[in-house]
Amino acid sequence: MDSGKSVIDIDSIRKEFPILSRGANDRPLIYLDNTATSQTPSTVVDAVVDMYEHHKANVHRGVHLLSREATDMQEATRRRVAAYINASPEEVIFTRGTTEAINLVASSFGQRFSEGDEVILTVMEHHANIVPWQLLQSQRGIKVRVVDIDDRGVLNQEQYRSLFGPRTVMAAFCHVSNVLGTVNPVKDMIAVAHGYGVPVLVDGAQASPHLNLDMKDLDCDFYAFSSHKMYGPAGVGVLYGRRDLLESMPPYQGGGEMIRHVSFEGTTFADLPFKFEAGTPDFVDIAAFARCFDFIERVGMVHIAAHEHELLDYATERMLEIPDLRIYGTAPDKSAVISFNVGDIHNYDLGLLLDRLGVAVRTGHHCAQPLMERFGIQGTVRASFAVYNTLEEVDIFISALRKVTAMLS
Ligand code: ALA
Repeated sequence: MDSGKSVIDIDSIRKEFPILSRGANDRPLIYLDNTATSQTPSTVVDAVVDMYEHHKANVHRGVHLLSREATDMQEATRRRVAAYINASPEEVIFTRGTTEAINLVASSFGQRFSEGDEVILTVMEHHANIVPWQLLQSQRGIKVRVVDIDDRGVLNQEQYRSLFGPRTVMAAFCHVSNVLGTVNPVKDMIAVAHGYGVPVLVDGAQASPHLNLDMKDLDCDFYAFSSHKMYGPAGVGVLYGRRDLLESMPPYQGGGEMIRHVSFEGTTFADLPFKFEAGTPDFVDIAAFARCFDFIERVGMVHIAAHEHELLDYATERMLEIPDLRIYGTAPDKSAVISFNVGDIHNYDLGLLLDRLGVAVRTGHHCAQPLMERFGIQGTVRASFAVYNTLEEVDIFISALRKVTAMLS
């Protein structure tokens, strides 16, 4: 990657995001909660409006013009996603989000697990990649094994390798931690798992907005991500699954459009990807999701990542000048997420006062309570950056942080 200074025109990028010019609490909005959800450019919003105003009809269900148009738009997005992640369209399943994608795999693929089988997770997982496996723990008697991290937030690879055994049936881990920002060496980790004949699910929710994705290069079995973190509409996610695995799996939910033929004697199921898409999908937002890839490719992921790294490095340096500020997550390979606490100040108090100064950050456990426990804390404040954030915004954030820290100390 050509790191260093940004070569993109942030001012013109910001103009594509109308929400960034609104205020918050009588101040300019400084939106630093991009890990929770990123903002959406006008081209994507316009695509949502265009669907409602010109094409809205249910997909794959009508011979009439509008239904054919809506269907074509949805399927065009599927092809766009497939090309973007280097997969085939049949391997792209639309879900409500990353959470549903992981639940789909746990529920469906998990039906082949039996008592005593083991699933390897890591301590840095979001609850979305813990609880679905725990549900299998109670339903099927599987065991969950957990890989630890060091104090920088780097996974213990030696322990990871040591957890594989004859009962290991799955490894599931995040590509990028939503709290620590750690970028895990998923390609190597997948190769290790495959060496033991174990399939892998990667939670890519925090990677897809910041890294190029290539399913063939990763040799991934399952990969889950969400539109709303990729500058897209809420309510759409993607499960990539290797075709042979998806074909071998039973349906996740039953309903319309996932069937070939239904009778009371028995039902046969549709081919991929429709077998896993019961009911009316969020076809409006799926259609608009295609425009996110136009935006990302126009700006260039390499430039997005370089700009975010510039923000990360600058913010980290400035934050560490603040007395008693501790950053959680200092891995050498890290995305633009900074989780921190200042002395004994409660993260919630910091977040509330920052909000009064127009700065939006997330506070709390970030749906990663086992990770909080690992660090012996209740929660953190988290600032996370996207392509439209600026160094000037970092300066405003730092001076707000200094102000509220002084008030609360
Ligand atoms: N998983 C999202 C976050 O980390 C919601 O904020």
